[in-house]
Amino acid sequence: RTFRIAAIPADGVGAEVVASGRAVLDALADASDGAFAFVWEEFPWGSDYYARTGKMMADDGLEQLKDFDAIYFGAVGWPTVPDHISLWGLRLRICQSFDQWANVRPVHFLPGITSPLRKADDTELDWVVVRENSEGEYAGLGGRNLSGRGPGGEVAVQSALFTEVGCERIIRFAFDLARTRTRRKVSSVTKSNAQQYGMVLWDDVFERVAADYPDVETESVLVDAMSAKFVLHPEDLSVVVASNLNADILSDLGSALAGSLGLAASANLNPERRFPSMFEPVHGSAPDIAGQGLANPIGAVGSAALMLDHFGLPDQAARLNEAIETITGAGVLTRDVGGSATTDEVTKALIDALNN
Ligand code: NAI
Ligand code: MG
Repeated sequence: RTFRIAAIPADGVGAEVVASGRAVLDALADASDGAFAFVWEEFPWGSDYYARTGKMMADDGLEQLKDFDAIYFGAVGWPTVPDHISLWGLRLRICQSFDQWANVRPVHFLPGITSPLRKADDTELDWVVVRENSEGEYAGLGGRNLSGRGPGGEVAVQSALFTEVGCERIIRFAFDLARTRTRRKVSSVTKSNAQQYGMVLWDDVFERVAADYPDVETESVLVDAMSAKFVLHPEDLSVVVASNLNADILSDLGSALAGSLGLAASANLNPERRFPSMFEPVHGSAPDIAGQGLANPIGAVGSAALMLDHFGLPDQAARLNEAIETITGAGVLTRDVGGSATTDEVTKALIDALNN
């Protein structure tokens, strides 16, 4: 089979890590003796494109993307463009328009990488944050200048949207995922003691859906307590399901606990497969290290493994994840995880590991 993938490197280290992921996937396809192949098309959208055109992506960009098998994304955001414009103009536009309502962010320890949590050899960390990716706090509802009083008296409102359908589909997704894992447990995260409408609806739906999965252990934890639990009892977590903002924050915490933001992979899924899904590292464009060959490509390569899973190639995804473990275990590490290897050296080591 041939898979058509739209690559959108966008800004900063996005270009470096997408190039790495493409090279690794192409090496995997080369080794498959024609069993599968990838055809890439690259789209030059992002903050440079904005400087030239006043837009983050082409007007008909969604039309151009809609027939691809997947989108492979780098990161968006650069100091020359306000972050809310770059994010909404490209990444969130794609996620929302293609109804990629489930954002899946797995985290686990990798051999050879020191985690701030790894106090003892038996500390384990292997969980998946499932993020509601279409509504919640990032629904884009609200406005500025609501008081009409002008400078000094301005009032802004930023509302969160929770629908029963939206809560139910992401919570069911989390339960279905839990059933595929060794530890069958779903932890639901809200702040429903303080946010008494939307998040109480979430809690109600969670309780109702949980009844359909008697074989899955459950808990409901407030987000502040959950952030402590991530650090203190990571071994007690398997699938963590949370709203857009809460899961965004928790998953950055999770990847830092695994050793670096540069390690974390994610999939923005349209589970109905009416539109392409999008695969991207969790991290941003990292302007502080961009263009210097310092970017850790493992988050992007892990995202490519999630894409292989989505393509129905789980054995290939497993091969890729094994290659990652082989090279981290052998000490081929970028600076963020304590090594001195460049992005290219890590890429080359991954390709060598795949070919061995
Ligand atoms: P960031 O994730 O870009 O960087 C945070 C820290 O992690 C920096 O010290 C950076 O050097 C490090 N880091 C990130 N990725 C790394 C990698 N692959 N290898 C080694 N170190 C890595 O977050 P920040 O600085 O808050 O945001 C920078 C820009 O990225 C902003 O414009 C922001 O809006 C955007 N952003 C975009 C995202 C996306 O496209 N999905 C997600 C998060 C932020
Ligand atoms: Mg984030």
